Amino acid sequence: MSRLVIISNRVAVPKARGAAGAQGGLAGALNSALKKFGGIWFGWSGEESSETTGHIQLQTDDGVTTATIDLSETDIEEYYNGYANSTLWPLFHYRLDLTEYENETGRGYERVNETFANSVAPLIDPDDLIWVHDYHLLPLGERLRSHGAKNRIGFFLHTPWPPARLFVSLPYHERLVRTMLEYDVIGFQTGEWLGSFLHYCEKELGAEVDESTGRIAFEDKETFARAYPIGVDWDHIQTQGKTKEAKNAEQRVIDSTRNRIAMIGVDRLDYSKGLPERIDGISRFFDQNPDRTRDLVFIQIAPPSREDVDSYQKIRAELEQKTGQINGARSEVDLVPIRYVNKGHSLAELCGFYRASKICLVTPLRDGMNLVAKEYVAAQDPEDPGVLILSQFAGAAHQLTEAVLVNPHSPDNLARAIRTALDMPLEERKRRYEALVKTVREDDIHGWTNNFMRDLRELGAQ
Ligand code: UDP
Ligand code: G6P
Repeated sequence: MSRLVIISNRVAVPKARGAAGAQGGLAGALNSALKKFGGIWFGWSGEESSETTGHIQLQTDDGVTTATIDLSETDIEEYYNGYANSTLWPLFHYRLDLTEYENETGRGYERVNETFANSVAPLIDPDDLIWVHDYHLLPLGERLRSHGAKNRIGFFLHTPWPPARLFVSLPYHERLVRTMLEYDVIGFQTGEWLGSFLHYCEKELGAEVDESTGRIAFEDKETFARAYPIGVDWDHIQTQGKTKEAKNAEQRVIDSTRNRIAMIGVDRLDYSKGLPERIDGISRFFDQNPDRTRDLVFIQIAPPSREDVDSYQKIRAELEQKTGQINGARSEVDLVPIRYVNKGHSLAELCGFYRASKICLVTPLRDGMNLVAKEYVAAQDPEDPGVLILSQFAGAAHQLTEAVLVNPHSPDNLARAIRTALDMPLEERKRRYEALVKTVREDDIHGWTNNFMRDLRELGAQ
């Protein structure tokens, strides 16, 4: 069987486990894929060095081999903080107001993609299947081809892909998408993002596009673009949920909230997650339901993320101010309505928190998928399940239609959804939970990797 070579910016290096909370959805998902197929995982170590040498550090742990390189301060600034997280991330989340258009960071982005290709190329065998991940590495396939890689190379985008009208605001947008057409298969989280990409290829690039198969023919190349909604590792969550760590975490929430209902949010501290808007919705709920102020405790787990990027510093300050304001206005000596936790937690602890929380608020303004929504469902007690309140703008809303769907921009809508969740009879909670579980279980992480790997092997292969 061919080996799998995964390439992503972020690698879940075992020694970096303490930082697990801020690693996001990508890292956990790929760990499962690699354990199954065997191979190596290449990426940035997360460390800074005086210069980028491309020297590889190899490490094997728990059956997964990682190969990492350090990056220089300039490379981190231009590639990671700059083009990836100040240009592509906001643009891909429809935030033109936060998108920076700097040619210099664009050059840094191209340079680091070339560094990645140059470093990883000697590790690749001719039979390997290569799977590149996320917006940091859009042109990597083309760079690998220029280093002679004839392997099958796939790419998966974990974020949304914006409508063509927004994407064309990017200087050199055409050049970027042309490089992507060097991949054999391109995966998106939902049909919505896939549709935007196909539309761009057809209308802006003049490619021949077959929507039914996702085939894109352009110049002498053929690429297949399809939707592969990512899932969670159902069995792993069940196991983690039974650990002592999970039970302790669950008990901590139960003991500390006493007879109040715990409502939880778990998000990287990112402006795409709609955190200040969420606090506004909770505040509106308290305004409209003064008699219920003592019923509810909201716990927001928000590990800081991308802290050197301006827009992330701003969102953190805004969230802290809002949380402080509402706690100041509504706390009693024996009651603090919002617990705001900046620390990251392990999956086992999260499972305990999820289970102890009768409501989960997942209200991003825009999100590729959102794994927290699926984890919350997977961690519930089937006999007494909690209620998932989910943004209509998360990729997950395409699948989790039995959640209470909301417009995260509307405080009234959020307040109403919280009220609906609090008042929802057990029978309805169970009915919704059973429908949600069916989706979360059937479309889990194994289905995602199997489907993508199958297409990477088969589609367009002569
Ligand atoms: N996560 C975690 N510890 C935390 C907070 C989050 O392990 O303290 C994990 C969470 O369990 C989920 C991932 O980070 O698997 C977040 O993925 P999601 O798709 O929801 O959002 P992303 O951060 O990738 O944008
Ligand atoms: C999202 C992105 C991932 C990224 C993660 C954490 O899930 O899609 O590519 O790894 O956030 O962000 P960070 O910048 O800390 O790697």
